[in-house]
Amino acid sequence: MSKKDIISIDVGTSRIKIVAGRCSNNHVNIKKAIAIDTPQGCVEDGKLMFNDGKADILKQSIVQALSENRIRYKNVIFTIQSTSIIRREVNVPKVKPNEMESMIRYEIEQYLPIDLDEYIIEYKTIEENGEDKSRILIAALPKAIAEDYMSIVKLLQLEPNSLDINSNAISKLFSMKQQINDAAYNLDNTVACVDLGCSHINICIISKGLYQFSRIIQAGGRDLTASIAETFKISLQDAENMKLAEANLSKFDSGEDSDMLNETISNIVFRWADEIQKVFQFYKTRNANNHIDEIYLYGGTSNLRGITDYLSRAVNMPVKQIKTLSSLKLSNHIGAVDLENYLNSIGAINRK
Ligand SMILES: Nc1ncnc2c1ncn2[C@@H]1O[C@H](COP(=O)(O)OP(=O)(O)OP(=O)(O)O)[C@@H](O)[C@H]1O
Ligand SMILES: [Mg+2]
Repeated sequence: MSKKDIISIDVGTSRIKIVAGRCSNNHVNIKKAIAIDTPQGCVEDGKLMFNDGKADILKQSIVQALSENRIRYKNVIFTIQSTSIIRREVNVPKVKPNEMESMIRYEIEQYLPIDLDEYIIEYKTIEENGEDKSRILIAALPKAIAEDYMSIVKLLQLEPNSLDINSNAISKLFSMKQQINDAAYNLDNTVACVDLGCSHINICIISKGLYQFSRIIQAGGRDLTASIAETFKISLQDAENMKLAEANLSKFDSGEDSDMLNETISNIVFRWADEIQKVFQFYKTRNANNHIDEIYLYGGTSNLRGITDYLSRAVNMPVKQIKTLSSLKLSNHIGAVDLENYLNSIGAINRK
């Protein structure tokens, strides 16, 4: 476990979330948490776009944010999410540690249609299944994506600590006994952590504190904005402002005051609920004992007013937005942190 002070950066399609802190024992100490706009077009599906001087623009934004907030640590983690990252769990016979690598490569060649030379392969044991089997989680990350993040680290003149994957980052936070929103988190439960972002919804299922699987749905807050712009024939910027100021799904739900704005939004969120249900269904059909107890929402779009109740009714289970985690310690001087925005960055600092 790293006990160094670290900068952890989640470069989203619309916002870059930067957390400075360190991991100690079972806590993550947070010293700074800041979010800035992602410069237009610099990130698509987790990939950095370097055309037209964008690498420099992205670097400048991060440098400015770090310097304005007097963050001077050297070690940096980037945490990313992309549909081109492949994660699979496999059950493999237990072998000696030095034989693991070649067995994993063999497994990948059997089941995944990818050219191994173009991927960085990482794996970790999720669970020992009896005497002779292990459940292994394999992640295959395109080398091209990792190299682009490395070039940004170089441009920033920082030291690379690691490159994490958002679903791995969040599952580390849900692997420990703690209070979530001031209530005990039951480690016997199966929870779905749902990151509602700008262009992606990332669903990560964690059972008894162990990562089970994750899926990305290509949908998010920008679809709401685009649909508002189309309905009201206004610019995307005006539509975004309207969404932030006025959207409220509980108004639509109550039947009173149902208006064009919330009807537009509700149509889309209803489709999201349907997609989320399909992912749950897939998980449940994999094993007769699989079930999901509750959903925790985070990410910017989890702030859409009324979305927890709306989704709870649509998928028929408890849905909460993550507001506090007792495993996090905030430095005195930073005041309140809107945690739901920073959980990928925070989880990535936890090096379990
Ligand atoms: N109060 C709010 N109501 C509705 N939407 C909101 C609110 N606050 C933020 N959002 C939306 O949250 C999104 C940004 O969230 P977030 O920072 O999690 O996305 P991202 O990480 O940049 O995107 P992605 O993970 O998809 O790459 C934007 O679409 C923004 O409009
Ligand atoms: Mg995001």
